[in-house]
Amino acid sequence: MTKRFYIETVGCQMNMLDSELIASGLLRLGYEPAISASKADVVLFNTCSVRQHAEDKVYSALGRLKHAKQHNPLKIIGVLGCMAQKDGPLIFRRAPHVDLVVGPSQLGQLPRLIEEVAAGAGPTIAVSSDRKAESHREARESFAPFNPARRAEARPVAHQAMVRVAFGCDKFCSYCIVPSVRGPEQSRRPEDIEEEVQLLARQARQRDVALEVTLLGQTVNSYRYRDGGRTFRLADLLARLNDVEGLARLKFVTNHPRHMTEDLIKAVRDLSRVTPYFHVPAQSGSDRMLRRMRRGYSSSQYREMLGRIHETVPGAAVTSDFIVGFCGETEAEFQRSVDLVREARFKNSFIFKYSPRPGTHAAARFEDDVPDEEKRRRNNELLAVQNAISEEDNQPLVGRTVEILVEGPSKTSLKHEATERATQLVGRTTCDRIVVFEGAGELIGRLVSVEIEKAAAFTLFGRTVTSATN
Ligand code: SAH
Ligand code: SF4
Ligand code: F3S
Repeated sequence: MTKRFYIETVGCQMNMLDSELIASGLLRLGYEPAISASKADVVLFNTCSVRQHAEDKVYSALGRLKHAKQHNPLKIIGVLGCMAQKDGPLIFRRAPHVDLVVGPSQLGQLPRLIEEVAAGAGPTIAVSSDRKAESHREARESFAPFNPARRAEARPVAHQAMVRVAFGCDKFCSYCIVPSVRGPEQSRRPEDIEEEVQLLARQARQRDVALEVTLLGQTVNSYRYRDGGRTFRLADLLARLNDVEGLARLKFVTNHPRHMTEDLIKAVRDLSRVTPYFHVPAQSGSDRMLRRMRRGYSSSQYREMLGRIHETVPGAAVTSDFIVGFCGETEAEFQRSVDLVREARFKNSFIFKYSPRPGTHAAARFEDDVPDEEKRRRNNELLAVQNAISEEDNQPLVGRTVEILVEGPSKTSLKHEATERATQLVGRTTCDRIVVFEGAGELIGRLVSVEIEKAAAFTLFGRTVTSATN
């Protein structure tokens, strides 16, 4: 009988991509996707450790499966990804009905490990060794990149694809768990990346859709690949990919402010497929907090970098992340983040309450002394300032015609399961702004011109003008 799998994913785009690649591997082996965890023979949680909340979500989802496992002991339950790497065998203690614990670098072994568990191997674990306890070379080997071949049918949509350009992170920001769970920074060969993008573009052409590729790295703009005497940086990679036939848009996330070099900003200006969109997290507007966070720049250096982006790429959209309530953050220091948001006028910001992560420098050295209530208040205040800016800055778009890559039905449309031909669609501008409009399903995956009629903080509303060619 055909075995069915179900993957639940939390965390960042790296995890979304890993889940897609896992699904790809299982489909190749003859597994089929299940519509829910209860209907699956293999239930996999691809997990995140970046904040406590992300971990709590997985542990409570695991708790809900306890009963199902008692009912059907043959059901295989796996915990994958960053929390698997961080918690390791502790997961079996906290959730004894889990069969498999697999870290991000061991995902290539997953199909084999599932077979072994099915054959009665008992609780099975595959994770990398502790990065801090290893030499650099050993750590690199232990955190081998998970990088299997792409399969068209495993991708949720043909018109959007994530492509990893670098694994891991070497920044060790004091609050962050990512370098310990994802391992050392390792950039992929430019030839391999191009080959992958070529393949994705061919698949998109076969399905007659435009392709948007998002290049992924924890600090994507520190991408660097040495080949003999030459060093390839992100700007070189963008130039190399820009001319791939069938590629409509090229994006890259996440940037570190220190690596926002002139050549990269100019590449965004000069390369026709690269979208004028920069996600460059600031984390704080206070210099003392930035030092404590070990971010490696001051607020004035961050502002200077923003100035260079706006000067070189007029109209570019810049987005940011902030952490509020970091260890010792005073009200006055928090207000420096408010100042920065007001001044920078980000297109949007993701704002997080500081969550201490065991094993990080900050958790060991500083007290988590801002009460949760106060973190929440700061989070709301900063978000309110940001949202008002987002709404204001969207208004000038009303009356303008913008090019949209149509992503799919809008949320409302999905809820009401519109069966008529015309439905509500959602797409994005080159600056990553979300646009909702009425249109037929055939437009999904195409570039379309839309005139904006109304603008809110997170969404623009418009109507199609003409269908552009892709
Ligand atoms: N590599 C990216 C993203 C890392 S995780 C980068 O460097 O920007 C995404 C975001 O989560 C971070 O930008 C940061 O704002 C937030 N974050 C990371 N660790 C956190 C922690 N311990 N508590 C709260 N937010 C955190
Ligand atoms: Fe974490 Fe800093 Fe690396 Fe981003 S750059 S993943 S915040 S350590
Ligand atoms: Fe989370 Fe791992 Fe991404 S900790 S943010 S899923 S790299």
